[in-house]
Amino acid sequence: MSNASAAEELPTEEIDLALANEVIDKYLTLPGNLMPVLQGIQDGYGFVPKPTIDLVAERLNVYPSQIYGVLTFYAQFHLKPRGKYIIRVCVGTACHVQGAERITETFFDRLHIGHAETSADLRYTFEKVACLGACGMAPLAMVNDDTYGKMTVQKVDEIIETYNQRPMK
Ligand code: FES
Repeated sequence: MSNASAAEELPTEEIDLALANEVIDKYLTLPGNLMPVLQGIQDGYGFVPKPTIDLVAERLNVYPSQIYGVLTFYAQFHLKPRGKYIIRVCVGTACHVQGAERITETFFDRLHIGHAETSADLRYTFEKVACLGACGMAPLAMVNDDTYGKMTVQKVDEIIETYNQRPMK
């Protein structure tokens, strides 16, 4: 994704910049402060909203293009809102052999979202991920910090039913 296209896709709604200003205040005089500032902003908002990028550029005296460069280079940063429940399906070799593709496709089908997408109600974000280090439980899925091994299509439906009942706050 180019920096320009990343900027075009960003949500443009108004946000309260007080939190971003607090984060910037905290790191303002420290050398190498761009990464901790961006991390602090993401921790606070759940992603890095566009208005905070303009604010960081102005207050840290860096070009917005530099900030987009950092944000798009490091996978830990997100430029769009994420779901409350992050579903990760492992597509590493062991999980692939055990049918991860079918699990992935079932999530896509049930949630109407694809890889790295978030449902319109912000309940779910779906991500395919590399080996999660528990190959003996393949195929493996996670929802936030909860692990689900030996996944089946039926388990996909059970997981979705469970998390559909969970609160959004
Ligand atoms: S390949 Fe999926 S957990 Fe290792």
